[in-house]
Amino acid sequence: MNAPFFSHNRSNVTSKLDGGLLVLSAYCAIQRSNDTAFKFEQESNFWYFCGIEEPNWLLIVDGLAGKSWLVAPETNEVHKTFDGSLDYGAAKDVSGVDRVLSHDEGQDLLKDLAKRHSVAYTVFDSEHASRFNFSLNPALSKNKRTLERIFSSVRDCQKDIAALRAIKQPVEVEAIKKAVDLTVDAFEQVRSSISSFNYEYEVESSFTHYFRSRGATGHAYDPIVAGGLNACTLHYVKNNDKLSRRQFVLLDIGARKNGYSADITRTYALGNPTKRQQAVHDAVQQAQERVIEIIKPFLSFSEYQEKADKIMMEALLSLGLAKSVNDTEALHRYMPHAISHGLGVDVHDSLGDNKMFLEYMVLTVEPGIYIPEESIGVRIEDDVLVTNSGHNNISAKLSTAW
Ligand code: GLY
Ligand code: MN
Ligand code: MN
Repeated sequence: MNAPFFSHNRSNVTSKLDGGLLVLSAYCAIQRSNDTAFKFEQESNFWYFCGIEEPNWLLIVDGLAGKSWLVAPETNEVHKTFDGSLDYGAAKDVSGVDRVLSHDEGQDLLKDLAKRHSVAYTVFDSEHASRFNFSLNPALSKNKRTLERIFSSVRDCQKDIAALRAIKQPVEVEAIKKAVDLTVDAFEQVRSSISSFNYEYEVESSFTHYFRSRGATGHAYDPIVAGGLNACTLHYVKNNDKLSRRQFVLLDIGARKNGYSADITRTYALGNPTKRQQAVHDAVQQAQERVIEIIKPFLSFSEYQEKADKIMMEALLSLGLAKSVNDTEALHRYMPHAISHGLGVDVHDSLGDNKMFLEYMVLTVEPGIYIPEESIGVRIEDDVLVTNSGHNNISAKLSTAW
């Protein structure tokens, strides 16, 4: 992604905010232990508007004046020696902002802008964190507190940004396709020698090597390589167990490349599957094909969910896992996660406040059936673009067979 893309995004958001002032903070680095930090991952909204991958920067966009600035973090010679620092020229080239300012110049600019803007828009902490018991990166709330000292009103524009990010631009679709293609190629290579793997970690390392040796950032999320019963733990990421020829291995893996994510799942047999294993795999595969077929613009999400639930219920009935079409308890037990989510910079990208599919949304379709009492977990996941007349499954070229 290049400076014109980020400039375009900045002008889109400020017109949505009626020429308002947007002030976004990068994430800060998080301590791993003593004097080391976790590998840095940028806050995705901040990245979408400037492309900077470094911690502690600030982006200011004045919609009234049509100007934007990046503010560099306060840094000292010791930090520079250990972590490097992004020079101002590089920051300007990547982002296309008008000027790059020092920390003190940035503070002065905010005070000056407060004379013309009573409201500053920014991104507040996400609600997901409390739902999942995550700790939050403190950078966003710190930025909010700073703005509250300077401006009469500070408002959250997360929803306006989500609405923009939900509808992909052609250049973003191309980036997602590249991440998907790389992931598909890695799956093909692993699949061609699947019976030679003895441990889950061997499979994980093949993907990591494939992605990194081709210059991709790496994984878009922690890869899941789950043999047998492990596939029933939905976010299993230990990937340490021995693989058995008698069980499936579920692979949920996606590359991140040029800022965009892929998210693909296949479930393979290492030996000859039992009739039951094959039946579960066939049921998930048929369900997945049927669900993808429904997707088209202007279909409401509620109708999609209803239809997908019906398809999944039929799959469970065919396997003797549900008692009747009304057995919602079985549906929640054997298919306990969402059928779809948006995909983009974040692997779980927002679809905005939209209530229906719209052209240029990209989402996953990922039905699964998990039967811990039989040590069987099968999920099949593809990445789908909504087109003007229907959909395009952009990971369809990866076979579901092994
Ligand atoms: N890889 C996470 C998911 O499928 O949503
Ligand atoms: Mn997914
Ligand atoms: Mn996935």
